[in-house]
Amino acid sequence: MISDSEIFKAKILMIDDQRENLDLLDGILRVHGYSNLLFTSEPLEALGFYKKHSPDLILLDLNMPGLDGYQIMAQLKIIENYAHPPILVLTGDSTIETRKRALQEGAKDFLNKPFDQIELLSRIRNMLEYWLLYKQVLDQNKILEEKVQERTAEIQETQLETIQRLSLVAEYRDDDTGMHIKRMSQYAAILGKTSGMKEEEVKLLFYAAQMHDIGKIKVPDQVLLKPGKLTPEEWEIVKSHTVLGARILSGSRSKLLQLAELIALTHHEKWDGTGYPSGLKGEDIPFVSRICSIADVFDALTSKRPYKEPWPVEKALAEIKQLKGVNFDPELTELFLNSMDQVLTARKQYKN
Ligand SMILES: [Fe+2]
Ligand SMILES: [Fe+2]
Repeated sequence: MISDSEIFKAKILMIDDQRENLDLLDGILRVHGYSNLLFTSEPLEALGFYKKHSPDLILLDLNMPGLDGYQIMAQLKIIENYAHPPILVLTGDSTIETRKRALQEGAKDFLNKPFDQIELLSRIRNMLEYWLLYKQVLDQNKILEEKVQERTAEIQETQLETIQRLSLVAEYRDDDTGMHIKRMSQYAAILGKTSGMKEEEVKLLFYAAQMHDIGKIKVPDQVLLKPGKLTPEEWEIVKSHTVLGARILSGSRSKLLQLAELIALTHHEKWDGTGYPSGLKGEDIPFVSRICSIADVFDALTSKRPYKEPWPVEKALAEIKQLKGVNFDPELTELFLNSMDQVLTARKQYKN
């Protein structure tokens, strides 16, 4: 509902080349409680005036020198894309053609001069009520839309945070700072970007990559944390983290979890077909997993593990080069080596 005070505070713009008409209107409206009255007797200035003040109602004369009422209405349609405030035409010309044309050109209503005061006031009130309600609905829609967007972003953020924290659970036993996941997903995102993936895909890759080792949650401590060489049986258990991870992530409708499932399953496949669990070869290995395997191995080499000390970056890079076309997609290996500046910056940022 629109209150009386809102009606009387509404901005009314009066355009008439005859000063005495404006004085008359101003007098009537002021006496009846309207306080926000603007007027101009210069039709050529009317549109500038309109833009500056954004009125809620326009009282418009038709026959004016320079720019007539029809031309002003035509301009308003263009300025506001047909959503301009209501226009009440006031004119001495009472022919039916004039009336029709004024309504066609965008006037909401029409009154002949000399007008009846009661009629004038009731039309003004009706038109203002309509316009202020319309504006209120627009505002409410906008507020609602903003709230929905805010809530959606919040939910997404919470989901992503939950995923990150769950990924940490799996990682926690052999990396209690969770830095491997952070660095590896950063490297994967850098390589995804340089290889031409779209921003939205890179973002998905970044989060999905964090779950690559989630299957480790089922690998017992005595195997996962064993400092020495693994027995063949123990090695089989370690290898099963790919299938187990994919199983944990399977069956989701979320694009992110589907991608995470794919990465969990195939991040240990090798370009030459000697990887696990399926021995996929070359381009049969999903692109995102070819990216993740380089990112994963580079970080594993340059970090401390229960069974090894961290390698210096140069030694790790030499190893990555050696593995080009063996473990890794040759093109992606080159791109990774060429992105070393970004990779090392990320590495510094997430140092243990
Ligand atoms: Fe893994
Ligand atoms: Fe990893």
